[in-house]
Amino acid sequence: MNKEIAALAEKIIAKYTKGAEQAAVQGIIPYTGSGAEWVSSPYDGNGWWTGGFWPGLMWQLYAASGSDLFRQEALRAEQLLTDEFRVFSALNHDVGFMYLLSSDLHNRLCPDKQAEQDTLHAATLLAGRFNPLGFLSAWNGGRPGWAIVDSMMNLSLLYRASELTGDPRFESIAKAHADTCIREFVRENGSCNHIVIFDPKTGEVLDRPGGQGYAPGSSWSRGQAWGLYGFVISYAHTGEKRYLDTAMKIARYFIAHIRPDGLTDCDFCQPVDEERIDNIAGAIAACGLLHLADLPESGSEAPFFREAAMRLISALDTLCADWDPDHMGILTKCTAAYHQDGAGRHINIVYGDYFFTEAVMYLAGTDPAPWFPAK
Ligand code: GLY
Repeated sequence: MNKEIAALAEKIIAKYTKGAEQAAVQGIIPYTGSGAEWVSSPYDGNGWWTGGFWPGLMWQLYAASGSDLFRQEALRAEQLLTDEFRVFSALNHDVGFMYLLSSDLHNRLCPDKQAEQDTLHAATLLAGRFNPLGFLSAWNGGRPGWAIVDSMMNLSLLYRASELTGDPRFESIAKAHADTCIREFVRENGSCNHIVIFDPKTGEVLDRPGGQGYAPGSSWSRGQAWGLYGFVISYAHTGEKRYLDTAMKIARYFIAHIRPDGLTDCDFCQPVDEERIDNIAGAIAACGLLHLADLPESGSEAPFFREAAMRLISALDTLCADWDPDHMGILTKCTAAYHQDGAGRHINIVYGDYFFTEAVMYLAGTDPAPWFPAK
């Protein structure tokens, strides 16, 4: 491992040793750091879609350091998340993010039957959101035809359930959603829509609103990153070349839009005079690009993908990381959505730190690879 990556991994572990101790004292699932304290999610308590990233971070740090502090903290958060199984109406397609990074990472790193059961419970809830016309229904609240590109990441939970049970139905659902995503979300130039609204009875496309991006037809950068990484993961699980081709197409588009300073705008079509950065998108894309670069199939493009990933990681570290040990959270300038600031604009947000850490730990050789087939 190169010395700079080793030093960066050590800095993350040191920063989060204090962070884990503080979260245990507060007894919450952190969403954002505010000074010396953590603050929990702005909506829906522990059922908010981001709850898995805290235990995911803890498992990443446990895998990297072996420190029991991180394992204990991951288990504390997992208990709060599995309590949410009792509130059916709060759970949506994001059970992937919530339980892959909690119960499934638990089971992968410290085999545990109950954690495996909880993972399969979550996967079955996700499979239950499948509309046989070919898509996963993302959200509740009277929107059964709304599908979103973010679900590409949650498909990992379905692939994982097929791996654990030997039942191919979960994987079939994942592939059906991925194929719909290629057909209806990914544009000719490699950019993606965030949301496609289908008629849930006929499958007809009714609308493609701008979602968390700037406007209809624009390119919300985190949506591009979910698509990029999500298709890399679908390729890893299935070996289907169309998923690799799609991942590469989105990757080229993403790379062409990285800012000159190496940071990521919130939307690649936002007005030029608008200062709106989303470092979470850069961290997610870096993970996807690193995996893409390591595939032999990337051939002569591999150095291009790797260089872009390293440029993103270096910019996050040097321009937007808060290494003050008395402040909770690392990455600054994370933005939840272009137009609504309720979940945060230009603040630290836990899933930015999660993907930044995942990218660094992947380079350091300790990433437990939660999205990928078990080795
Ligand atoms: N999956 C929701 C988001 O990226 O904000």
